Amino acid sequence: MSTLFPQWMNALPGAVAVGLGAAGVGVIGGVWYYFTPSYWEVGYMPEQPVAFSHQIHAGQLGMDCRYCHTNVEDSSHANVPDTATCINCHAGDDELGGYFNIDLWEAHKVNQNLVKVRTAYAEEKPIQWRRIHKVPDYAHFNHAVHLNAGVSCYSCHGRIDQMEVVYQKESLSMGWCLECHREPEKYLVDVDGVLDPENPVRITDLATVEKLLNSPDQRERGLKLVETKQLQPPEHCAACHY
Ligand code: HEC
Ligand code: HEC
Ligand code: HEC
Ligand code: HEC
Ligand code: HEC
Repeated sequence: MSTLFPQWMNALPGAVAVGLGAAGVGVIGGVWYYFTPSYWEVGYMPEQPVAFSHQIHAGQLGMDCRYCHTNVEDSSHANVPDTATCINCHAGDDELGGYFNIDLWEAHKVNQNLVKVRTAYAEEKPIQWRRIHKVPDYAHFNHAVHLNAGVSCYSCHGRIDQMEVVYQKESLSMGWCLECHREPEKYLVDVDGVLDPENPVRITDLATVEKLLNSPDQRERGLKLVETKQLQPPEHCAACHY
């Protein structure tokens, strides 16, 4: 994806610092408007080297996102799992036999996608997953901050647990970031149980989050969360461009 963004665009923070005249930014913004792919990136769904289904793993099997995306709560970056993670269940011989059923076990031995996974593992060559979501290098985004604040994967990636193939649901444009930063109460859930200690919301339970965010008392609950947790999503340029 990085080739979509010419090197010179990385100089943006400098450009903002030097010439923050409204006219300058207007011109820069105007030019960039046509060059940024934010608009056509919605729906971006590249073909992956192995047909991995979130609908099966996160949906049907109910695996928590953090089983595979292990760093997402602790780090700015959400990692994609290495092949060893898949081999936990897809090693081949005694694969899944104990946990699931015998027909599935047989089917998995010959499944061509799983043959690819085992070959990659045996040859110690990582599977070259194609990256889907990306903000340009001149803008900074941190996963951990958002999850700890109580913003679910759901709000930014949609119902991944229903996707056979992952696609980009939201534009990830600056306007999109700011839309939430101005009204975060619409998107917050009680992840650490500050409002209801008995019932903290599991941030990766996308079905429950979807239901909560669409319920009539979301705004009230959201405002309480903003106040109690003293959340302050920034709108000044230097917060995201530095
Ligand atoms: C916790 C166990 C577990 C882990 C970890 C796991 N899988 Fe699976 N996977 C399953 C089970 C169970 C199925 C069978 C579900 C079904 O077909 O109904 C499956 C099915 C599949 C299939 C076959 C889908 C089909 O029916 O054609 C592929 C391909 C696959 N997994 C790839 C992966 C990859 C790649 C990883 C690592 C990123 C991975 N799996 C990690 C348990 C796991
Ligand atoms: C069994 C492991 C596994 C589980 C569980 C899992 N993922 Fe993934 N995820 C992957 C793999 C492998 C990829 C890369 C291939 C792809 O895009 O499908 C990926 C890709 C993604 C991407 C796109 C990354 C990019 O390139 O932009 C997002 C977003 C994502 N996962 C979110 C989630 C969410 C949200 C959940 C929980 C509802 C979840 N994942 C559960 C293995 C997993
Ligand atoms: C506030 C919005 C937001 C939330 C919440 C969020 N993401 Fe993301 N995600 C993004 C953005 C923006 C990117 C692109 C980041 C970049 O380019 O540095 C991204 C990228 C990713 C990637 C691709 C990373 C890579 O290097 O290939 C994965 C995987 C991912 N997110 C998984 C998750 C999971 C899992 C959750 C929930 C546990 C989650 N995200 C929650 C906005 C979000
Ligand atoms: C759905 C809501 C939502 C979306 C979308 C969102 N944010 Fe945020 N963001 C928040 C909230 C809530 C906070 C406040 C966290 C706090 O105060 O602890 C925050 C805080 C931040 C911060 C300050 C903390 C830090 O990391 O230094 C930055 C920077 C930031 N967001 C960047 C972004 C960018 C860039 C995007 C778009 C790619 C984005 N956000 C999209 C809700 C969102
Ligand atoms: C909450 C995070 C955030 C804040 C605050 C923010 N930006 Fe951005 N900005 C982004 C992201 C993410 C992109 C890249 C997304 C895209 O291509 O639209 C971006 C892109 C841009 C661009 C490229 C043009 C475009 O629209 O794609 C310019 C110019 C820019 N920002 C200037 C500013 C200025 C000036 C401010 C302060 C008034 C500011 N930004 C505040 C996140 C932010």
